[in-house]
Order: sequence, then structure tokens, then C-alpha cells
Amino acid sequence: MEVIIQPNKEAAASLVSRVIAHELRANPHLVLGLATGKTMERVYRNLVRMHQEEGLDFSLCSTFNLDEYVGLFPTDPNSYRHYMQHHLFQHVNVDRRNTHLPNGIANDLEAECRQYEALIQRFGGIDLQLLGIGKAGHIGFNEPLSALRSRTRVKALTPTTLKQNAALFGNEEKMPRRAMTMGVGTIIEARRCLLLATGESKAEVIAQAVEGPITSMVTASALQLHARCTVVVDEEAASHLKETDYYRWIFENEPEWEEYR
Ligand code: GLP
Repeated sequence: MEVIIQPNKEAAASLVSRVIAHELRANPHLVLGLATGKTMERVYRNLVRMHQEEGLDFSLCSTFNLDEYVGLFPTDPNSYRHYMQHHLFQHVNVDRRNTHLPNGIANDLEAECRQYEALIQRFGGIDLQLLGIGKAGHIGFNEPLSALRSRTRVKALTPTTLKQNAALFGNEEKMPRRAMTMGVGTIIEARRCLLLATGESKAEVIAQAVEGPITSMVTASALQLHARCTVVVDEEAASHLKETDYYRWIFENEPEWEEYR
């Protein structure tokens, strides 16, 4: 795992966007794993700008989102399909047929989950997986005690997550109680993982995920097992980390990061 500390939210999101753009330019057929949430909005804004101003080309890439709420139509403003349309897909030249999210209104949810896994395999696996982190330490919707080898499946949402996301639904009553999510096992099979966390509210879970033990209580900690995972944080989200001098030293001295310094 590598930890990159940036001075603020904008700089952190900008670095993540530039890594995505770099990978996309290197491989136009990139299979990109996508995440939702407030934190990612800045990243998508940057990608849209890069598409418009620098011609960043999405025409050959494919995308797979981490998760989707159960019971929401794709047109529902709270669905993750709608989020992706609104923040990214409709503004760039990605082929809609190559954009994938679990179908939250499938009749047979278990079959839908199996098909989602099979589809990822058919596309050759995920090259670059973008990740946020929930306040419960989750990646995707892999809530505490999610098996570290879990695959795409339906998960009940924890009270912490319901509270965190309820604001978007007006009130907690309207919020779906379940979601379909890639499993921890699915996520860590991606060739590269890139996690972005910003703000004081993420400081404690980031410290647990990066410096704590690998535990299903904080599913982001499973990323410690990944051979190529980068965690990008702003100063606030880094504020509970102990080894920040070491992380800064690596970033300053690792040739791979030269163009991002
Ligand atoms: C939801 C998503 C996660 C995301 C998290 C963080 O729970 N399922 O994938 O990481 O929100 O959201 P935010 O960026 O709004 O803090």
C-alpha cells in the first residue's frame, strides 16, 4: 500500500483524476471500476473537464460500478446509475453500452449478482478500481463483518451507513435498506486500486484501514493484501495516521510519482 497526502480536497481529487487519465491514455480499452459518493464528485468534475479541454477519450473504455441500491429504478435520482449519468457518463464520450452497474430492480437479485461477476470476468477483469471509504470503514457496501473473500451479493446496510447516506434521500425512512455490492474479494482482484478519502470525518477509518490490523470489521483494511493499492488523502483525512513522515518521504522519492509531485 502507498499513502499519498495532499494539502487539500482539491489537490487529492486532482491527483486521483490524473492517475485515471494516465491509465486511460496508456490503455484506451481500460476496464475502470467506479465508485459513488460526495468525495468522487470532484474526481468526475475533473475527468469531464479533461475530456472537454484535453480530449481525454472514453470511447473504448468500459466501466463497472461497485454497487447499487436494491429497489431503485435507474431513473431514480438517488440511484447510483443516475449519479453516474449525472456526474460523468452524460458529459463524456463513453459508450453507454459499456457502462455497468448491478441492476437494483432485477427480479432475481442473486442471479443478477452472479451475472455481474461473470460480466467482469468476460471483460477480462478490472484494470483500475476507484474506491471511496464509508464511515463504517467499508469499500463498496461491504459493511463490517463482510467476508474478506466475498463476491458480489446483496448486503443489508448498517445504521451508520443509513445515517451517512440518509441526507440524500430527504429522510432515512425513504432510504433502501439493502444494496448490491461487489465483494471484498471481487475488489481486491482488480489489477490496481486507488482509494480517495478527504475530510476529518474519514480520519479515524483511514488510520484503521491503513495502519490497523486486517479485519472484516473495517473492510478497507483488506486493501493491505493488494499488491498495487494507492490511498490518496488530504491533510484532514491523514490527521490520525502515525507514519505520515514516512509516507511523504516515499512520495517525494519514488520515481513513479515524479509527474504528480
Ligand atoms: C457509499 C458508497 C461507497 C462510498 C461511500 C463514501 O457508501 N457505497 O462506495 O465510498 O459512500 O461516500 P462519501 O464520499 O459521500 O463520503
